[in-house]
Amino acid sequence: MEILRVTGGTQLSGSVRIHGAKNSVLPIMAASLLVRGTTVIHNCPKLSDVQVTIRILEHLGCKVRREGSDVIIDAATLKRFDIPDGLMREMRSSVVFLGAILARCEKAEISSPGGCELGPRPINLHLEALAKFGANIRDEGGNLTCSVCDKLRSCEIHFPTPSVGATENTLLAASRCEGTTTIINPAREPEIADLAEFLGKLGAKISGVGSGVISVCGIPSAGASYIEHSIIPDRIVCATYMSAVAAAGGDAVLESVYPGHVAPITEALRQMGVDISLSDSSIRVVSRVHKGAFLKSAKPIETAPYPGFPTDAQAPLMAACLKAEGNTVFVENIFENRYRHCEELRRLGASIKTEGKTAIVSGVRKLKGASLQSTDLRGGASLVVAALSAAGVSNVSQLQHIDRGYESIERDLTQLGAKIVRENFSEG
Ligand code: UD1
Repeated sequence: MEILRVTGGTQLSGSVRIHGAKNSVLPIMAASLLVRGTTVIHNCPKLSDVQVTIRILEHLGCKVRREGSDVIIDAATLKRFDIPDGLMREMRSSVVFLGAILARCEKAEISSPGGCELGPRPINLHLEALAKFGANIRDEGGNLTCSVCDKLRSCEIHFPTPSVGATENTLLAASRCEGTTTIINPAREPEIADLAEFLGKLGAKISGVGSGVISVCGIPSAGASYIEHSIIPDRIVCATYMSAVAAAGGDAVLESVYPGHVAPITEALRQMGVDISLSDSSIRVVSRVHKGAFLKSAKPIETAPYPGFPTDAQAPLMAACLKAEGNTVFVENIFENRYRHCEELRRLGASIKTEGKTAIVSGVRKLKGASLQSTDLRGGASLVVAALSAAGVSNVSQLQHIDRGYESIERDLTQLGAKIVRENFSEG
Protein backbone atom coordinates (compact mmCIF):
# COMPACT_ATOMS: atom_id res chain seq x y z
CA MET A 1 0.00 0.00 0.00
CA GLU A 2 1.27 3.48 -0.82
CA ILE A 3 1.19 6.18 1.81
CA LEU A 4 2.25 9.79 2.10
CA ARG A 5 4.55 10.21 5.07
CA VAL A 6 4.24 13.80 6.25
CA THR A 7 6.48 15.28 8.92
CA GLY A 8 4.76 18.38 10.19
CA GLY A 9 6.14 21.59 11.62
CA THR A 10 8.06 22.92 8.59
CA GLN A 11 7.18 26.30 7.18
CA LEU A 12 6.52 26.52 3.44
CA SER A 13 8.38 28.85 1.10
CA GLY A 14 9.29 29.30 -2.55
CA SER A 15 6.89 28.93 -5.44
CA VAL A 16 4.90 26.26 -7.22
CA ARG A 17 2.97 26.20 -10.48
CA ILE A 18 -0.68 25.13 -10.38
CA HIS A 19 -1.67 22.54 -13.00
CA GLY A 20 -4.71 22.52 -15.28
CA ALA A 21 -8.19 22.03 -13.82
CA LYS A 22 -9.52 18.49 -13.49
CA ASN A 23 -13.11 19.68 -13.71
CA SER A 24 -12.36 21.53 -16.93
CA VAL A 25 -10.29 18.95 -18.73
CA LEU A 26 -12.72 16.04 -18.25
CA PRO A 27 -15.74 17.64 -20.00
CA ILE A 28 -13.48 19.15 -22.66
CA MET A 29 -12.02 15.72 -23.40
CA ALA A 30 -15.59 14.44 -23.72
CA ALA A 31 -16.39 17.43 -25.98
CA SER A 32 -13.53 16.38 -28.29
CA LEU A 33 -15.98 13.71 -29.56
CA LEU A 34 -17.81 16.50 -31.39
CA VAL A 35 -14.69 17.30 -33.41
CA ARG A 36 -14.50 15.10 -36.49
CA GLY A 37 -10.73 15.44 -36.48
CA THR A 38 -8.03 16.43 -34.02
CA THR A 39 -8.21 18.19 -30.66
CA VAL A 40 -5.02 19.31 -28.96
CA ILE A 41 -5.49 20.00 -25.26
CA HIS A 42 -2.70 21.99 -23.61
CA ASN A 43 -2.06 22.17 -19.86
CA CYS A 44 -3.68 18.76 -19.36
CA PRO A 45 -2.89 17.52 -15.83
CA LYS A 46 -1.59 13.98 -15.30
CA LEU A 47 -4.39 12.67 -13.11
CA SER A 48 -5.89 9.23 -12.71
CA ASP A 49 -9.29 10.65 -13.77
CA VAL A 50 -7.69 11.89 -17.00
CA GLN A 51 -6.32 8.36 -17.58
CA VAL A 52 -9.81 6.90 -17.16
CA THR A 53 -11.16 9.50 -19.61
CA ILE A 54 -8.48 8.50 -22.12
CA ARG A 55 -9.53 4.85 -21.74
CA ILE A 56 -13.16 5.82 -22.38
CA LEU A 57 -12.16 7.76 -25.52
CA GLU A 58 -10.07 4.81 -26.74
CA HIS A 59 -12.94 2.40 -26.07
CA LEU A 60 -15.14 4.62 -28.24
CA GLY A 61 -12.60 4.33 -31.06
CA CYS A 62 -10.64 7.59 -30.69
CA LYS A 63 -6.87 7.71 -31.01
CA VAL A 64 -5.31 9.43 -28.03
CA ARG A 65 -1.71 10.26 -27.22
CA ARG A 66 0.05 12.37 -24.62
CA GLU A 67 3.04 14.60 -25.34
CA GLY A 68 4.19 16.21 -22.10
CA SER A 69 1.32 18.28 -20.81
CA ASP A 70 -0.55 18.06 -24.14
CA VAL A 71 -3.14 15.42 -24.93
CA ILE A 72 -3.98 14.89 -28.58
CA ILE A 73 -7.29 13.27 -29.46
CA ASP A 74 -8.36 12.12 -32.91
CA ALA A 75 -12.10 11.50 -32.82
CA ALA A 76 -12.48 11.02 -36.59
CA THR A 77 -12.25 7.26 -36.02
CA LEU A 78 -15.08 7.08 -33.44
CA LYS A 79 -16.91 3.77 -33.89
CA ARG A 80 -18.97 3.11 -30.75
CA PHE A 81 -21.60 4.91 -28.72
CA ASP A 82 -21.50 2.90 -25.49
CA ILE A 83 -19.44 3.02 -22.29
CA PRO A 84 -19.20 -0.22 -20.30
CA ASP A 85 -20.28 -0.24 -16.68
CA GLY A 86 -16.74 -0.91 -15.38
CA LEU A 87 -15.39 2.30 -16.95
CA MET A 88 -18.42 4.35 -15.89
CA ARG A 89 -17.97 3.29 -12.29
CA GLU A 90 -14.32 4.31 -12.20
CA MET A 91 -15.23 7.97 -12.47
CA ARG A 92 -18.55 9.53 -11.62
CA SER A 93 -18.04 12.53 -13.88
CA SER A 94 -18.14 10.14 -16.87
CA VAL A 95 -21.83 11.09 -17.10
CA VAL A 96 -20.77 14.10 -19.17
CA PHE A 97 -20.07 11.63 -21.99
CA LEU A 98 -23.82 11.15 -22.30
CA GLY A 99 -24.37 14.55 -23.90
CA ALA A 100 -21.17 14.30 -25.95
CA ILE A 101 -21.91 10.84 -27.43
CA LEU A 102 -25.55 11.78 -28.05
CA ALA A 103 -24.49 14.97 -29.82
CA ARG A 104 -22.11 13.07 -32.06
CA CYS A 105 -23.95 9.76 -32.64
CA GLU A 106 -27.61 10.62 -31.87
CA LYS A 107 -27.64 7.59 -29.59
CA ALA A 108 -25.76 6.62 -26.46
CA GLU A 109 -25.60 3.73 -24.02
CA ILE A 110 -24.02 4.22 -20.63
CA SER A 111 -24.72 3.02 -17.14
CA SER A 112 -25.85 5.37 -14.44
CA PRO A 113 -22.90 6.61 -12.36
CA GLY A 114 -24.87 6.03 -9.12
CA GLY A 115 -24.09 7.43 -5.67
CA CYS A 116 -20.66 8.05 -4.21
CA GLU A 117 -18.69 8.96 -1.15
CA LEU A 118 -20.18 12.48 -1.05
CA GLY A 119 -23.74 11.13 -0.76
CA PRO A 120 -26.33 10.60 -3.50
CA ARG A 121 -25.30 11.98 -6.91
CA PRO A 122 -28.59 12.04 -8.84
CA ILE A 123 -28.55 12.70 -12.60
CA ASN A 124 -32.22 13.60 -12.98
CA LEU A 125 -31.37 17.13 -14.16
CA HIS A 126 -29.06 15.74 -16.87
CA LEU A 127 -31.74 13.35 -18.11
CA GLU A 128 -34.59 15.89 -17.98
CA ALA A 129 -32.49 18.37 -19.95
CA LEU A 130 -31.52 15.84 -22.63
CA ALA A 131 -35.16 14.73 -22.92
CA LYS A 132 -36.06 18.34 -23.79
CA PHE A 133 -33.76 18.09 -26.81
CA GLY A 134 -35.90 15.17 -28.00
CA ALA A 135 -33.82 12.31 -26.61
CA ASN A 136 -35.74 9.18 -25.59
CA ILE A 137 -34.10 7.83 -22.48
CA ARG A 138 -34.73 4.37 -21.05
CA ASP A 139 -33.31 3.47 -17.66
CA GLU A 140 -33.27 -0.29 -17.13
CA GLY A 141 -31.64 -1.19 -13.84
CA GLY A 142 -29.17 1.65 -14.13
CA ASN A 143 -28.41 1.04 -17.84
CA LEU A 144 -29.29 4.16 -19.77
CA THR A 145 -30.16 3.89 -23.44
CA CYS A 146 -30.68 7.19 -25.24
CA SER A 147 -31.71 7.77 -28.79
CA VAL A 148 -33.05 10.60 -30.91
CA CYS A 149 -35.85 10.00 -33.43
CA ASP A 150 -34.81 12.60 -35.91
CA LYS A 151 -32.33 15.20 -34.72
CA LEU A 152 -31.62 16.91 -31.39
CA ARG A 153 -33.80 20.03 -31.39
CA SER A 154 -33.05 23.32 -29.67
CA CYS A 155 -35.17 24.09 -26.61
CA GLU A 156 -35.48 26.08 -23.39
CA ILE A 157 -34.15 24.50 -20.21
CA HIS A 158 -34.78 25.84 -16.74
CA PHE A 159 -32.65 24.30 -13.99
CA PRO A 160 -34.25 24.39 -10.53
CA THR A 161 -30.72 24.29 -9.10
CA PRO A 162 -27.52 25.10 -10.97
CA SER A 163 -25.82 21.77 -11.66
CA VAL A 164 -22.32 21.85 -13.15
CA GLY A 165 -22.55 18.46 -14.87
CA ALA A 166 -26.10 18.98 -16.17
CA THR A 167 -25.13 22.41 -17.57
CA GLU A 168 -22.17 20.74 -19.34
CA ASN A 169 -24.33 17.99 -20.85
CA THR A 170 -26.80 20.67 -21.99
CA LEU A 171 -24.06 22.78 -23.60
CA LEU A 172 -22.77 19.72 -25.45
CA ALA A 173 -26.18 18.78 -26.81
CA ALA A 174 -27.10 22.40 -27.62
CA SER A 175 -23.90 22.86 -29.62
CA ARG A 176 -25.13 20.32 -32.15
CA CYS A 177 -28.67 21.71 -32.59
CA GLU A 178 -29.99 23.98 -35.24
CA GLY A 179 -31.45 27.12 -33.67
CA THR A 180 -31.01 28.64 -30.24
CA THR A 181 -31.17 26.82 -26.93
CA THR A 182 -31.73 28.89 -23.79
CA ILE A 183 -30.43 27.63 -20.45
CA ILE A 184 -31.98 29.39 -17.46
CA ASN A 185 -30.19 29.16 -14.07
CA PRO A 186 -27.12 27.34 -15.41
CA ALA A 187 -24.02 26.70 -13.32
CA ARG A 188 -21.61 29.67 -13.47
CA GLU A 189 -18.38 27.87 -12.54
CA PRO A 190 -15.23 28.87 -14.48
CA GLU A 191 -15.07 25.31 -15.85
CA ILE A 192 -18.39 25.98 -17.65
CA ALA A 193 -16.81 29.02 -19.29
CA ASP A 194 -13.83 26.89 -20.34
CA LEU A 195 -16.10 24.30 -21.97
CA ALA A 196 -18.13 27.07 -23.66
CA GLU A 197 -14.94 28.57 -25.07
CA PHE A 198 -13.98 25.16 -26.47
CA LEU A 199 -17.42 24.69 -28.06
CA GLY A 200 -17.12 28.21 -29.48
CA LYS A 201 -13.97 27.06 -31.29
CA LEU A 202 -16.05 24.20 -32.76
CA GLY A 203 -18.41 26.81 -34.19
CA ALA A 204 -21.23 27.11 -31.63
CA LYS A 205 -22.22 30.67 -30.70
CA ILE A 206 -22.58 30.84 -26.94
CA SER A 207 -23.41 33.95 -24.92
CA GLY A 208 -24.32 34.72 -21.33
CA VAL A 209 -21.80 32.35 -19.72
CA GLY A 210 -21.35 33.32 -16.06
CA SER A 211 -24.81 34.93 -15.94
CA GLY A 212 -28.27 33.54 -15.12
CA VAL A 213 -29.12 32.79 -18.78
CA ILE A 214 -26.94 31.14 -21.43
CA SER A 215 -27.90 31.14 -25.12
CA VAL A 216 -26.42 28.58 -27.47
CA CYS A 217 -26.76 28.76 -31.21
CA GLY A 218 -25.56 25.33 -32.33
CA ILE A 219 -24.01 23.97 -35.51
CA PRO A 220 -25.79 20.94 -36.94
CA SER A 221 -22.97 20.57 -39.50
CA ALA A 222 -19.59 19.08 -38.64
CA GLY A 223 -17.88 22.27 -37.45
CA ALA A 224 -14.14 22.74 -36.99
CA SER A 225 -11.99 19.66 -37.63
CA TYR A 226 -8.98 20.92 -35.65
CA ILE A 227 -9.11 22.61 -32.24
CA GLU A 228 -6.37 23.64 -29.85
CA HIS A 229 -7.33 24.57 -26.33
CA SER A 230 -5.49 25.35 -23.12
CA ILE A 231 -7.10 24.27 -19.85
CA ILE A 232 -7.64 26.89 -17.10
CA PRO A 233 -5.70 26.51 -13.82
CA ASP A 234 -7.18 24.26 -11.15
CA ARG A 235 -8.75 26.60 -8.58
CA ILE A 236 -9.25 23.79 -6.05
CA VAL A 237 -5.60 22.73 -6.17
CA CYS A 238 -4.79 26.42 -5.73
CA ALA A 239 -7.18 26.65 -2.73
CA THR A 240 -5.59 23.51 -1.24
CA TYR A 241 -2.06 24.93 -1.41
CA MET A 242 -3.24 28.32 -0.09
CA SER A 243 -4.69 26.41 2.87
CA ALA A 244 -1.46 24.43 3.24
CA VAL A 245 0.66 27.59 3.53
CA ALA A 246 -1.89 29.09 5.95
CA ALA A 247 -1.82 25.97 8.14
CA ALA A 248 1.95 25.30 8.10
CA GLY A 249 3.01 28.94 8.08
CA GLY A 250 5.50 30.52 5.73
CA ASP A 251 5.68 32.69 2.65
CA ALA A 252 4.97 31.04 -0.70
CA VAL A 253 3.83 32.00 -4.19
CA LEU A 254 1.34 30.01 -6.27
CA GLU A 255 1.89 30.62 -9.96
CA SER A 256 -0.19 30.21 -13.13
CA VAL A 257 -3.47 30.86 -11.35
CA TYR A 258 -6.52 33.06 -11.88
CA PRO A 259 -6.84 34.84 -8.50
CA GLY A 260 -10.48 35.79 -9.25
CA HIS A 261 -11.42 32.10 -9.26
CA VAL A 262 -10.41 31.66 -5.60
CA ALA A 263 -11.82 34.94 -4.23
CA PRO A 264 -13.92 33.27 -1.46
CA ILE A 265 -10.86 31.34 -0.21
CA THR A 266 -8.76 34.52 -0.25
CA GLU A 267 -11.46 36.32 1.71
CA ALA A 268 -11.71 33.58 4.38
CA LEU A 269 -7.94 33.32 4.80
CA ARG A 270 -7.61 37.10 5.10
CA GLN A 271 -10.23 37.04 7.88
CA MET A 272 -7.99 34.48 9.58
CA GLY A 273 -5.04 36.86 9.51
CA VAL A 274 -3.22 35.40 6.50
CA ASP A 275 -1.61 38.03 4.23
CA ILE A 276 -2.50 37.46 0.61
CA SER A 277 -1.25 39.55 -2.31
CA LEU A 278 -2.55 39.03 -5.79
CA SER A 279 -1.04 39.70 -9.20
CA ASP A 280 -2.57 38.88 -12.59
CA SER A 281 -1.49 35.24 -12.48
CA SER A 282 0.01 34.54 -9.07
CA ILE A 283 -0.94 34.58 -5.40
CA ARG A 284 1.50 35.18 -2.54
CA VAL A 285 0.42 33.71 0.79
CA VAL A 286 2.13 34.76 4.03
CA SER A 287 1.09 33.06 7.26
CA ARG A 288 2.74 33.67 10.62
CA VAL A 289 1.68 30.71 12.68
CA HIS A 290 4.86 29.48 14.27
CA LYS A 291 6.25 30.05 17.75
CA GLY A 292 2.98 30.39 19.61
CA ALA A 293 1.21 32.58 17.03
CA PHE A 294 -2.16 31.29 15.80
CA LEU A 295 -4.57 32.20 13.04
CA LYS A 296 -7.98 33.69 13.93
CA SER A 297 -11.25 32.01 13.11
CA ALA A 298 -13.03 33.06 9.91
CA LYS A 299 -16.68 34.15 9.62
CA PRO A 300 -19.04 31.20 8.96
CA ILE A 301 -18.15 29.44 5.72
CA GLU A 302 -21.18 28.36 3.72
CA THR A 303 -20.61 26.39 0.55
CA ALA A 304 -22.60 27.60 -2.47
CA PRO A 305 -22.54 27.42 -6.25
CA TYR A 306 -19.97 29.71 -7.93
CA PRO A 307 -19.19 32.51 -7.17
CA GLY A 308 -19.88 31.32 -3.60
CA PHE A 309 -17.49 29.31 -1.47
CA PRO A 310 -16.75 26.06 -3.38
CA THR A 311 -17.77 22.82 -1.72
CA ASP A 312 -14.52 21.29 -3.04
CA ALA A 313 -12.46 23.74 -0.95
CA GLN A 314 -14.43 23.13 2.26
CA ALA A 315 -12.24 20.26 3.54
CA PRO A 316 -8.85 21.84 2.69
CA LEU A 317 -9.85 25.14 4.31
CA MET A 318 -11.17 23.32 7.38
CA ALA A 319 -7.71 21.76 7.75
CA ALA A 320 -6.25 25.27 7.99
CA CYS A 321 -8.73 26.20 10.75
CA LEU A 322 -7.93 23.41 13.21
CA LYS A 323 -5.59 25.56 15.30
CA ALA A 324 -7.29 28.92 14.64
CA GLU A 325 -8.39 30.76 17.77
CA GLY A 326 -12.09 30.39 18.64
CA ASN A 327 -14.75 28.56 16.65
CA THR A 328 -15.08 28.33 12.87
CA VAL A 329 -18.48 27.28 11.55
CA PHE A 330 -18.88 25.44 8.25
CA VAL A 331 -22.21 24.89 6.50
CA GLU A 332 -22.12 22.38 3.62
CA ASN A 333 -25.02 23.16 1.32
CA ILE A 334 -24.09 21.22 -1.83
CA PHE A 335 -23.48 17.59 -0.84
CA GLU A 336 -25.07 15.58 1.95
CA ASN A 337 -22.12 13.53 3.07
CA ARG A 338 -19.11 15.80 2.89
CA TYR A 339 -17.75 15.72 6.42
CA ARG A 340 -16.16 12.27 6.40
CA HIS A 341 -12.68 13.79 6.70
CA CYS A 342 -13.65 15.22 10.12
CA GLU A 343 -13.29 11.87 11.85
CA GLU A 344 -9.79 11.50 10.43
CA LEU A 345 -8.86 15.08 11.40
CA ARG A 346 -9.93 14.29 14.98
CA ARG A 347 -7.19 11.63 15.06
CA LEU A 348 -4.69 14.49 14.94
CA GLY A 349 -6.34 16.03 18.00
CA ALA A 350 -8.70 18.40 16.17
CA SER A 351 -11.95 19.38 17.87
CA ILE A 352 -14.79 19.25 15.34
CA LYS A 353 -18.50 18.76 16.01
CA THR A 354 -20.71 17.87 13.08
CA GLU A 355 -24.46 17.87 12.90
CA GLY A 356 -26.28 17.62 9.59
CA LYS A 357 -25.00 20.36 7.30
CA THR A 358 -22.95 22.06 10.01
CA ALA A 359 -19.46 21.47 11.35
CA ILE A 360 -17.98 23.55 14.15
CA VAL A 361 -14.22 23.58 14.50
CA SER A 362 -12.92 24.72 17.89
CA GLY A 363 -9.28 25.69 17.59
CA VAL A 364 -6.81 23.60 19.57
CA ARG A 365 -3.25 24.60 20.55
CA LYS A 366 -1.61 21.47 19.25
CA LEU A 367 -2.07 18.71 16.68
CA LYS A 368 -0.11 15.49 16.83
CA GLY A 369 0.80 13.22 13.88
CA ALA A 370 -1.36 10.12 13.35
CA SER A 371 -2.31 7.44 10.81
CA LEU A 372 -4.95 8.87 8.51
CA GLN A 373 -7.11 7.40 5.75
CA SER A 374 -8.32 9.49 2.82
CA THR A 375 -12.06 9.24 2.53
CA ASP A 376 -12.52 11.08 -0.77
CA LEU A 377 -10.53 13.35 -3.09
CA ARG A 378 -10.70 16.71 -1.27
CA GLY A 379 -11.06 15.08 2.14
CA GLY A 380 -7.79 13.26 1.44
CA ALA A 381 -6.06 16.52 0.50
CA SER A 382 -7.31 18.08 3.75
CA LEU A 383 -5.51 15.35 5.73
CA VAL A 384 -2.23 16.28 4.05
CA VAL A 385 -2.82 19.98 4.80
CA ALA A 386 -3.60 19.24 8.44
CA ALA A 387 -0.61 16.88 8.80
CA LEU A 388 1.72 19.72 7.75
CA SER A 389 0.66 21.63 10.86
CA ALA A 390 0.79 18.65 13.25
CA ALA A 391 3.82 17.82 15.36
CA GLY A 392 5.59 14.64 14.30
CA VAL A 393 4.81 12.15 11.56
CA SER A 394 1.48 11.35 9.92
CA ASN A 395 0.92 8.54 7.42
CA VAL A 396 -1.87 9.29 4.94
CA SER A 397 -3.24 6.23 3.09
CA GLN A 398 -5.88 5.54 0.40
CA LEU A 399 -4.00 7.80 -2.00
CA GLN A 400 -6.07 6.75 -5.00
CA HIS A 401 -8.57 9.40 -3.91
CA ILE A 402 -5.98 12.20 -3.84
CA ASP A 403 -4.40 11.09 -7.13
CA ARG A 404 -7.72 11.66 -8.91
CA GLY A 405 -7.26 15.42 -8.61
CA TYR A 406 -3.63 16.27 -7.75
CA GLU A 407 -0.92 15.53 -10.31
CA SER A 408 1.62 14.95 -7.52
CA ILE A 409 0.74 16.59 -4.23
CA GLU A 410 4.05 15.43 -2.72
CA ARG A 411 6.13 16.92 -5.54
CA ASP A 412 4.38 20.30 -5.25
CA LEU A 413 4.58 20.48 -1.45
CA THR A 414 8.20 19.27 -1.45
CA GLN A 415 8.95 22.12 -3.83
CA LEU A 416 7.58 24.44 -1.13
CA GLY A 417 9.90 22.86 1.44
CA ALA A 418 7.42 20.48 3.10
CA LYS A 419 8.65 17.15 4.41
CA ILE A 420 6.45 14.71 2.54
CA VAL A 421 7.35 11.48 0.76
CA ARG A 422 5.38 8.74 -0.98
CA GLU A 423 6.37 5.33 0.33
CA ASN A 424 5.32 1.74 0.13
CA PHE A 425 4.05 0.71 3.50
CA SER A 426 3.19 -2.70 4.83
CA GLU A 427 1.51 -3.13 8.16
CA GLY A 428 3.58 -6.30 8.67
C1 UD1 B 1 -19.17 19.13 -10.08
C2 UD1 B 1 -17.71 18.91 -9.80
C3 UD1 B 1 -17.49 18.65 -8.33
C4 UD1 B 1 -18.10 19.75 -7.49
C5 UD1 B 1 -19.55 19.99 -7.88
C6 UD1 B 1 -20.18 21.19 -7.18
C7 UD1 B 1 -16.89 17.93 -11.86
C8 UD1 B 1 -16.31 16.75 -12.54
N1 UD1 B 1 -17.26 17.78 -10.59
O1 UD1 B 1 -19.85 17.93 -9.74
O2 UD1 B 1 -16.07 18.59 -8.10
O3 UD1 B 1 -18.04 19.39 -6.14
O4 UD1 B 1 -19.66 20.21 -9.29
O5 UD1 B 1 -19.43 22.32 -7.44
O6 UD1 B 1 -16.98 19.00 -12.42
N2 UD1 B 1 -27.98 17.55 -8.49
C9 UD1 B 1 -29.25 17.00 -8.59
N3 UD1 B 1 -29.60 16.38 -9.77
C10 UD1 B 1 -28.74 16.30 -10.82
C11 UD1 B 1 -27.45 16.87 -10.71
C12 UD1 B 1 -27.10 17.49 -9.53
O7 UD1 B 1 -30.04 17.06 -7.66
O8 UD1 B 1 -29.11 15.74 -11.86
C13 UD1 B 1 -27.58 18.22 -7.23
C14 UD1 B 1 -26.41 17.49 -6.55
O9 UD1 B 1 -26.84 16.43 -5.74
C15 UD1 B 1 -25.77 18.60 -5.76
C16 UD1 B 1 -26.01 19.83 -6.64
O10 UD1 B 1 -27.06 19.49 -7.55
O11 UD1 B 1 -26.47 18.77 -4.55
C17 UD1 B 1 -24.80 20.27 -7.42
O12 UD1 B 1 -24.26 19.18 -8.10
P1 UD1 B 1 -23.51 19.36 -9.50
O13 UD1 B 1 -23.21 20.80 -9.71
O14 UD1 B 1 -24.28 18.65 -10.55
O15 UD1 B 1 -22.15 18.58 -9.23
P2 UD1 B 1 -21.35 17.69 -10.26
O16 UD1 B 1 -21.49 18.22 -11.64
O17 UD1 B 1 -21.65 16.25 -10.01
